[in-house]
Amino acid sequence: MAIFVIGGTGFIGIRVIPMLVARGESVVCMDINPTAPALAGLGDKVSVVRGDVTQFDDVISNMEASKAERVINLSYNLGQDLPPHRATKLNIVGMDNCFEAARILGVKHTVYASSLAVNGQQSHFGERPVTEDDYKHAVVQYGAHKAFNEFQAKDYIDKHGMTITGIRPANVTGPDKVRGSVDHVNLITRPARGEAISLPFADAMRCPIHVDDIAEVFVRVLMADKPAHAIYNSGGQPISLKDIAAIVRGFLPDAKISFDKETGGRESSGNWMIDNSRLVHEFGVQYRPYRDRVLQIINDCRAEIGEPPIKG
Ligand SMILES: NC(=O)c1ccc[n+]([C@@H]2O[C@H](COP(=O)([O-])OP(=O)(O)OC[C@H]3O[C@@H](n4cnc5c(N)ncnc54)[C@H](O)[C@@H]3O)[C@@H](O)[C@H]2O)c1
Repeated sequence: MAIFVIGGTGFIGIRVIPMLVARGESVVCMDINPTAPALAGLGDKVSVVRGDVTQFDDVISNMEASKAERVINLSYNLGQDLPPHRATKLNIVGMDNCFEAARILGVKHTVYASSLAVNGQQSHFGERPVTEDDYKHAVVQYGAHKAFNEFQAKDYIDKHGMTITGIRPANVTGPDKVRGSVDHVNLITRPARGEAISLPFADAMRCPIHVDDIAEVFVRVLMADKPAHAIYNSGGQPISLKDIAAIVRGFLPDAKISFDKETGGRESSGNWMIDNSRLVHEFGVQYRPYRDRVLQIINDCRAEIGEPPIKG
């Protein structure tokens, strides 16, 4: 089966595409940055084309040429830094271009990345897991745009009967993550590369999920013909930065990690308690223990600098 992946040369996409190929699918990836050494060894099952999701002609012409039955959109600006006009073109118009092209071409299933950021701060909910049906409290550009993407997907579903499914990844982690939430990542990767790290609040809470796990979630949901729901929380491991530091120190006793304040970050943390029972029950996903993933990231970083792996 042919699959069209937009934004597939990024952090998550380069994990999703090999998983699709391993399942026997063929992939056309469209990205504004078509350079992807990680996809080079996948042979003729994958082609990468340069295209801009903000340009409807690029999206529909490449989607049509791919003859895709399924589409996934991972292109986005991960941050609050873009001027409003540029952010709207990429995050809002880009997503709409994907949905509209999929509608015109009769794509069977379209999957897109939302985010836990639609929920805003955990303090809106108290200390309880947040479900997909909870009110969305996002106020910043990134989270507000994701919330609008979810509305737009529902509008296409309601008015055109399309199958469109959103995944809300939590704080994705991995050795090469450089955009989005990175404090919980740098807390592992910098000590693994022999560098010091200092962060403001030891008590700040995060909900990391390894990039291999979220890639698996995207693939399983994409390959379903008609998921039972329009949106799924990925969930992950609720944990404080202080506790991540303790895991890292367990593997790297000389890790140079410091915090400006031992308390005070918990109240201002984003959504970190997440109910993912919908995804778990329907798709049977199980994540490897977070501690194992920390060791995996440490060893990925050590391999880059020619150091031997640490045994778990
Ligand atoms: N990484 C995380 O922690 C995280 C968490 C929650 C949600 N998400 C969502 O998952 C998706 C993928 O995230 P990621 O971490 O792989 O991001 P990424 O920035 O690594 O990848 C995004 C890709 O989109 C491409 N792109 C940017 N502008 C484009 C344009 N105009 N046209 C075509 N392609 C364009 C980029 O070149 C890049 O390859 C995003 O929607 C992101 O918001 C990520």
